[in-house]
Amino acid sequence: MVILVKAIAIDGPAGAGKSTIARAVAQAMGYIYVDTGALYRAIGLGVCLLGLDPHNEKDVTDALDSITVTLRFVEGEQRVFLNGHDVSGEIRQPQISMAASQVASIGAVREFLFSLQKDMAKKNNVVMDGRDIGTVVLPQADVKIFLTASPEERAQRRYDELMLKGEKTTYEEVLADVKQRDYNDTHRDISPLRQAQDAILVDTTGITLEQSIQKVHDTAVQKLSTQTSC
Ligand code: DC
Repeated sequence: MVILVKAIAIDGPAGAGKSTIARAVAQAMGYIYVDTGALYRAIGLGVCLLGLDPHNEKDVTDALDSITVTLRFVEGEQRVFLNGHDVSGEIRQPQISMAASQVASIGAVREFLFSLQKDMAKKNNVVMDGRDIGTVVLPQADVKIFLTASPEERAQRRYDELMLKGEKTTYEEVLADVKQRDYNDTHRDISPLRQAQDAILVDTTGITLEQSIQKVHDTAVQKLSTQTSC
């Protein structure tokens, strides 16, 4: 029996609101939300825990033999496991963001995570967010959205989030980090962040989170309604 599943791919730079928006859209549509950044973060964390340099391609590639990453869904919420341990909280630390961005430029890491991401979309209706979902992981996605906002606005949002969590940082540091990650993500040789040709651009600069969710939701529903089932 062929099961027809739908996929909504949401790509864009760090801090564009992808995860919050994708989660809300998935919930409204009854789809599973897959946050692929969490997978790269888990590898970044694994590499750091092994005391390795996330830039070192050979060491990181060798380390993959001793790393397992799995996703589970608990009451609809994604949890990410590194070697059997739930690391969903730890992977959100700022130093892990940078390590994730560094290991994400390594081909062996991208290959390692490719089938895991693809398999999720084979069996479930998904909203999947990341950097290369519409271009590489799910090039046949039913809906592709490229979500962005200015670096300054993205840095301000991230800064506000970190302040709420009680992290010690400055707006300038967060902005520099956002710009560095944008550079890493768009300049790597393998699967760089770019808008797929058939992706719809949604710029959330100057609009509220609720407006952004509505915009992405309406765009997805409209695109899905124009598709034929055969
Ligand atoms: O979305 P995020 O900030 O949690 O992602 C962490 C890092 O992982 C980000 O710097 C880029 C990388 N990433 C990627 O290269 N491809 C993806 N599909 C998702 C994330």
